Amino acid sequence: MKPLIIALALILAAPLPAYAGPRTPRDLRDLAHQQGIRIGTAVDVAALRGEADYRDRLNREFNHVTAENAMKWESVEPERGVYTWADADAVVHNAQRNRQRVRGHTLVWHNQLPAWLTSGVADGTIGADELREILRDHITTQVRRYKGKIRAWDVVNEVVEEDGSMRQSIWLTHLGPGYIADAFRWAHRADPHAKLYVNDFNLEWNAPKIETTLSLVKDLQARGVPIDGIGFQGHLGIQYDYPGDWANVMRRFADLGLEVAITELDVRMVMPVTEEKLATQADYYRRALTDCLSVEACQELTVWGFTDRHSWVPGWFAGEGSACLLDENLTPKPAYRALLGVRA
Ligand code: XIL
Repeated sequence: MKPLIIALALILAAPLPAYAGPRTPRDLRDLAHQQGIRIGTAVDVAALRGEADYRDRLNREFNHVTAENAMKWESVEPERGVYTWADADAVVHNAQRNRQRVRGHTLVWHNQLPAWLTSGVADGTIGADELREILRDHITTQVRRYKGKIRAWDVVNEVVEEDGSMRQSIWLTHLGPGYIADAFRWAHRADPHAKLYVNDFNLEWNAPKIETTLSLVKDLQARGVPIDGIGFQGHLGIQYDYPGDWANVMRRFADLGLEVAITELDVRMVMPVTEEKLATQADYYRRALTDCLSVEACQELTVWGFTDRHSWVPGWFAGEGSACLLDENLTPKPAYRALLGVRA
């Protein structure tokens, strides 16, 4: 008893340390911890398996991950009824071992579908009723497999066109607009605790897309469909203005009661790299995090790859690159330091 009282007295008598302001975080994970948010990255499974420096960095810097390709339909069911989970499992297992939460990406999309599915639909051997069953089974099987292990699912990806019309995917064309509500309901049934998202690109600034997506969300909510969040992919390029209204757009979705996440941030540039371009890029990354932190509902910022060694950008945007926080050698770029300097 006595030592306890003495100890208590000492604690109470000790002067409070002077408040020095928040210290600069050591790394992104430390930043995430300080800000109370999730900072994630897309994960390249081949690199995760084959490159120790990639793996170490991934696990040191991030408290959240998304499989870059491993959970897409063509990856998990390349042949009809034959599921190949090894790559997706590898991402989830690594995350569990390293206390990272996981975003599931993605259940319903028009890209990276297996050939058996697209050709079956094209040649008419898969009719509408069967297609709906296939979609239901796919969602149910995949969400169930990772039940309790995936924090949030991108249930539908890129369902709105740039002009604000609904995307004419095989899903809309063959199943009608109700496929979106169905997808959310099936996913919810398979894992009632997973947060269910609509995810899209150019939603940071494109007015027709923003308005249609807001209407879509309201319509789903009015019909009691379990939707929890909106994902802004955030594929930016410094040759375009930073989407200065982004925080306001986030707030409009948050006002509907949704979680907000930046799900695929990267900031590309026209090559070659210069100091000036890197400085602009750093500013874009800084502003994206600042925008997220300014909106209470935004608690996740995920980058679409963390190193230029493995980035989708050069392969998809001719003449562009250097979109990530670290270069090919995993050396931090100014953008990395800019993020560490952001304060809520
Ligand atoms: C990209 C991957 O990064 C590439 O490796 C793949 O070849 C194509 O898809 N929006 C999305 C992501 O939702 O799934 C895409 O990922 C990038 C754009």
